[in-house]
Amino acid sequence: MKLARLFSPSCLLFSNLATSLSVPQPSAILDATQAAINALNTFYDKPTGRWDPTVNWWYSGIALQAILDYTQLTGSRDYLAQAQHTIDIQRAPLAWWPDGMGDFRADSTDDTGWWALALLRMYELTGNSTYLYIAKEDEAYIYQYWLPDTCKGGLIWSIPSLSYKNAISNVLYLELTASLHNLIPGDTFYLNRSLSQWQWFNSSGMINSQWLINDGLLDPQSNDSSVCLNNNASVWTYNQGVVLGGLVELHKATGDQGYLDTACKIADAVVGSLTLSPGGILTETCTDSNPCGTNGWSFKGIFMNRLAKLNKALPDRRYSEYIRTNEQTMYSNARNGSDFYGGVWQNPFDGRDLGKQVSAVSLLIATLGLP
Ligand SMILES: *[C@@H]1O[C@H](CO)[C@@H](O)[C@H](O)[C@H]1NC(C)=O
Ligand SMILES: *[C@@H]1O[C@H](CO)[C@@H](O)[C@H](O)[C@H]1NC(C)=O
Ligand SMILES: *[C@@H]1O[C@H](CO)[C@@H](O)[C@H](O)[C@H]1NC(C)=O
Ligand SMILES: *[C@@H]1O[C@H](CO)[C@@H](O)[C@H](O)[C@H]1NC(C)=O
Ligand SMILES: *[C@@H]1O[C@H](CO)[C@@H](O)[C@H](O)[C@H]1NC(C)=O
Ligand SMILES: *[C@@H]1O[C@H](CO)[C@@H](O)[C@H](O)[C@H]1NC(C)=O
Repeated sequence: MKLARLFSPSCLLFSNLATSLSVPQPSAILDATQAAINALNTFYDKPTGRWDPTVNWWYSGIALQAILDYTQLTGSRDYLAQAQHTIDIQRAPLAWWPDGMGDFRADSTDDTGWWALALLRMYELTGNSTYLYIAKEDEAYIYQYWLPDTCKGGLIWSIPSLSYKNAISNVLYLELTASLHNLIPGDTFYLNRSLSQWQWFNSSGMINSQWLINDGLLDPQSNDSSVCLNNNASVWTYNQGVVLGGLVELHKATGDQGYLDTACKIADAVVGSLTLSPGGILTETCTDSNPCGTNGWSFKGIFMNRLAKLNKALPDRRYSEYIRTNEQTMYSNARNGSDFYGGVWQNPFDGRDLGKQVSAVSLLIATLGLP
């Protein structure tokens, strides 16, 4: 597929989007967002401080991120007590991973990364240094698993088996370290880690020739680049998203336009992809004929959250139309009368699920925040 090359030189235009839709009223988007968050909170289980304790723990990390993003955008204080309650309970040592010692130090590096990013948002909103302290603990914990013994570095994903250098762990760490740098005046420590992480990731081979990121690397017991190869596994939307967040933070840290140019190439590859954006609507490839369990439903919102962040960093706000079109499509097709959203934004509502709902809330917040 050569499609991405059409977009890569200038990353200016994409043509498969509807452009005739009328601009919705901000108050309608705000109402829709509040309603979707209320529906999201029907999953909340106060005794455990989790949204749907029957599904993966990291989902609560991204649900927390979503309500805090809403808080930051609107100035609402409605969810801060819930956020603090969630953190106070969930920072206890994990029943299934006592080696982690609590404070979100989990059995996979990515699970810790989601929570650490939410904690940084909580620190931004409250100024309470406990949250910054926890995020720093989490960074130090994750960094222990940056292993130079194969493929010249990179984070491994699974802590129990010390294996699999994958994309999500590494792009989350990029975003976490760059965000720490940007929140700590005078910092050089986290900037160094973030730059080192980017240098490694950018030359790891995980970004393929179409400017899309595959799931990870083969696991060879070697440093040799001829065997440390991209494993060509799934192109999940969330990997394309989180890297955008990291690159925007690195641009903020350094002023180097190259980070935004690379971010645009990746974003354009998603927006212009016939499989990831058929008809201009973001689509997780796993959700069609290849079901991928509950995880996959949450990925699209993670992409949209970071695409909105990139869009705000660009003077021409070139992704506004894509975000708006996705929101309108999702609202008209995938919502039910109680403000629950389905997993495929082009299709009718297909059942209530935490990942689907967090994705919908994230897209609504991305739209609400459009300049
Ligand atoms: C700061 O956050 C921690 C963790 O949620 C909480 O226990 C503490 O009371 C907070 N401090 C203040 C001054 O609000
Ligand atoms: C980070 O610091 C180490 C140790 O001082 C240094 O060797 C390395 O070059 C630095 N990395 C970057 C990307 O600046
Ligand atoms: C890879 O390189 C590191 C030093 O950069 C070294 O410690 C490690 O032993 C090497 N791994 C292999 C498999 O040779
Ligand atoms: C991944 O795909 C590329 C391009 O088709 C190919 O060159 C490479 O050998 C593949 N890698 C693996 C590990 O199969
Ligand atoms: C990524 O690596 C490529 C190839 O080495 C280089 O040309 C490019 O400038 C790097 N991108 C960034 C944003 O550092
Ligand atoms: C929307 O879906 C939820 C979850 O399945 C259900 O409880 C609710 O009744 C539905 N609302 C309407 C208006 O159909």
